[in-house]
Amino acid sequence: MKELKIAVLKGDGIGPEIVDATLKVLEKVGEIFSVEFDLKEGLIGGTAIDETGDPLPEETLEICRESDAVLLGAVGGPKWDDLPTERRPEKGLLRIRKELDLYANLRPAKVWEPLIDASPLRPEVVRGTDMMVVRELTGDLYYGEPRGVFRENGMRVGINTMRYTEEEIRRVVRKAFEIAMRRRKKLTSVDKSNVLEVSGLWREVVEEERKNFPEVEVEHLYVDNCAMQMVRRPSSFDVIVTSNMFGDILSDEAGVVVGSLGMLPSASIGDRHALYEPVHGSAPDIAGKGIANPIATILSASMMLRFSFGLDEAGELIEKAVEETLRQGYRTPDIMSPGCTRVGTEEITERIIENMERLKG
Ligand code: IPM
Ligand code: MG
Repeated sequence: MKELKIAVLKGDGIGPEIVDATLKVLEKVGEIFSVEFDLKEGLIGGTAIDETGDPLPEETLEICRESDAVLLGAVGGPKWDDLPTERRPEKGLLRIRKELDLYANLRPAKVWEPLIDASPLRPEVVRGTDMMVVRELTGDLYYGEPRGVFRENGMRVGINTMRYTEEEIRRVVRKAFEIAMRRRKKLTSVDKSNVLEVSGLWREVVEEERKNFPEVEVEHLYVDNCAMQMVRRPSSFDVIVTSNMFGDILSDEAGVVVGSLGMLPSASIGDRHALYEPVHGSAPDIAGKGIANPIATILSASMMLRFSFGLDEAGELIEKAVEETLRQGYRTPDIMSPGCTRVGTEEITERIIENMERLKG
């Protein structure tokens, strides 16, 4: 039997609940597809700060480095909000991305037909939307030096640095082209090259790489225009590739366009490691109540099965089971709509697992 090593970082808030739900789904995958998962838990975020003083303890990093993939819940909460940036739970997230060199963040956003009314846009505008934001994740304003608040002529000055080497741009752009080749072969590259030199370089590299992927149709958009087109014609996008900061913003927008943030999975991929986590946060207001929507994390596990383990069939089974569960009308409170059956974390997970059993080949 194949043994696949997964580092499990549950994190804070609803993290433990949604990860536990996902592990049950993986157990079912193991049973159906005869694979064995070797799970190792590590601390991250606020919980890690409480126990070790560090949002990303060395031991956790070690577990991640030795695993085939990392499954993460969520980090952060009001308890740690007053800490300085350097010691906040979010820093654990930023460090793990950098340490594992997870440079490509894949955030698919598609409309689930049973949830089409959850979108703030009219159904005829949003119908058929299925896009993938590929966000660069280890460079840009998030990591550029110099950074900080300094004193200059008796005045405080805040500085962050937008910085990319051509190689950093190239590797993520190439990933995006490869992904576009497996989808509808359309790539939108987003920048601000009418103002920023970094963006000028970004655009040049996209043009260079495009020669290696002649079948892919390429469009360049300025980020402000892209933000607008995303609500005006969301279904026209296939793959969107962009820098860290722009991608942070646009992926939230993509999330709201298709309905619920509680449904959005993500994969952060490097050449040696990969991490899978929901796009949403730790939702401390509903933590421990058993009502959190585990679907984004379950779908993140399905991305893991596809991207890290080549188990496309298993990934597809999970996605179909989720869709079927929604079609049957089961909803956690965040996606509740009239006439549907309101259920909690455990029950929706059980329904998904039942549907996996029913739909398996
Ligand atoms: C995200 C989040 C993080 C980011 C925060 C929590 C540091 O917004 O994953 O999109 O900005 O990358
Ligand atoms: Mg964000």
